[in-house]
Formats: sequence, C-alpha cells, structure tokens
Amino acid sequence: MSYQGKFRVWRGDDSGGALEDFTVEVNEGEVVLDIIHRLQATQTPDLAVRWNCKAGKCGSCSAEINGRPRLLCMTRMSVFEESETITVTPMRTFPIIRDLVTDVSFNYTKAREVPSFTPPKDLAPGEYRMQQVDVERSQEFRKCIECFLCQNTCHVVRDHEENKEAFSGPRFLMRVAELEMHPLDTADRVDQAQDDHGLGLCNITKCCSEVCPEHIHITDNALIPMKERVADRKYDPIVWLGNKLFKR
Ligand code: SF4
Ligand code: F3S
Ligand code: FES
Repeated sequence: MSYQGKFRVWRGDDSGGALEDFTVEVNEGEVVLDIIHRLQATQTPDLAVRWNCKAGKCGSCSAEINGRPRLLCMTRMSVFEESETITVTPMRTFPIIRDLVTDVSFNYTKAREVPSFTPPKDLAPGEYRMQQVDVERSQEFRKCIECFLCQNTCHVVRDHEENKEAFSGPRFLMRVAELEMHPLDTADRVDQAQDDHGLGLCNITKCCSEVCPEHIHITDNALIPMKERVADRKYDPIVWLGNKLFKR
C-alpha cells in the first residue's frame, strides 16, 4: 500500500530560507527519514540531512516534525493521517548549517566544561569497587545517545540565546548528576551544578524528559535530585557541615 504524501521541508542556510512543498511517495512501514531519502533521490539531490544508523542509536537525525523535536528515523509515517501535510524543520535552538542540518557544537563545548570522573587519589584503576545499587542508579543516564533533542527543547536556551553561556542544558546537568551520584567521585558537583552549569535556571518544566527518545527520566531522576542536594547544602547547616567533613 503506498500513497502520495504531502511534505513541507525547510530549505536554506545561515543567511535565510523557507519552507518548500513536496509530494513524495510513502510506502507501508516507512519512517520520516525514508521520505527524506526519497526526496533526495528523486527531487532534491542537494537536500542536507544528517543521519547515520537509521536505528535510533546514533543520535544524528534530530529535527522537528510538525514542530515537535523527534528523531527522523524513529518517527513512523503511520502515526500521521495520509491527508496530513507533514512539516520537517531543523532543530531551532542551534545555528543552521544547511537545510535540516544544524551546528550542534554548543553541546560539545558544554560537555568539555564538565570536569571528568575524579576518583580518590590513592585508588588505582582496578581497585574500584561499586555496589550494584550505585551502578544501577547511573545506568539509566548512560542510555543517552546524544541526540540533543532535550537541549533543543529546553525553553531556557530555546527562547533565550543569552542563557547559552550560563546554562549547560538537561543533557549535561544529567552528566553532572551521574558523577555526583557515583560513590567514588570526589569532585564537588553540587556547587558546580549550581554555579558553573546553571542548574538554578531549570524550573522543572520536564519538556526535556518528554522528548527524550531513550525515555530517560532526566528531570525526576537527575535534575530534581541535584536541586535537592543544592537545597540541602544551602539551607541545612548540619548537612552542610557533614558534606564539608565527609563529602556525602
Ligand atoms: Fe537525547 Fe535523551 Fe540524551 Fe537528551 S538525554 S541527548 S534527549 S538521548
Ligand atoms: Fe529545561 Fe528540562 Fe529543566 S526542559 S527547564 S532542563 S526540566
Ligand atoms: Fe541514527 Fe536516527 S539515524 S538515530
């Protein structure tokens, strides 16, 4: 079963662009990335799109479909009506390179700003021991495929370019939380989260968690626990003193 689907795709570069209308064949079982590839093969050979695995694992094909941040390769055509016009646009929060491809280097800058895992100085690799419960707590965060859809969605930077300097975004605040929850990490992640990564700018709207293709509970399991640790330290003098003396 195939039909002629109606698509509206943003085309342009950093100097400007516009939505263009196309009619493209759609076959049973296809995803939006299949349509973009057919468009390239039949009508617009120079259409720029970033993709790699077509399996929801490389995090490359992030875009916005009918205004909703999604992976092109994991969005089935069957979720749309055949009569519907499907609009495909690049992620809005990052600078346009061309067509559906954006410059996501903001995220690499933020990644570099998170100090790496800091084990105790007297502990050699091979001597690290962890309880299974501690392993499991951070395993959810390790499912991240770095698609940056959460970073693209968070209103703190989506609507406020001026916040980009101060705010690392949900993906990297989650990384800070992962390290904070690691029993062998000795760095002071609580103050870092608040002072260096802008945790205070997050007002828990949970939009990041809603768009995560890995269904990571970014807000509930990473951001809120970090906020609680910041609050404990700031307002509870006994916790503050305990943290000073015993780290956690
Ligand atoms: Fe993508 Fe989820 Fe990772 Fe954010 S946390 S970059 S939405 S996989
Ligand atoms: Fe942004 Fe997620 Fe917080 S969308 S405001 S980082 S809960
Ligand atoms: Fe790899 Fe879509 S192409 S996640």
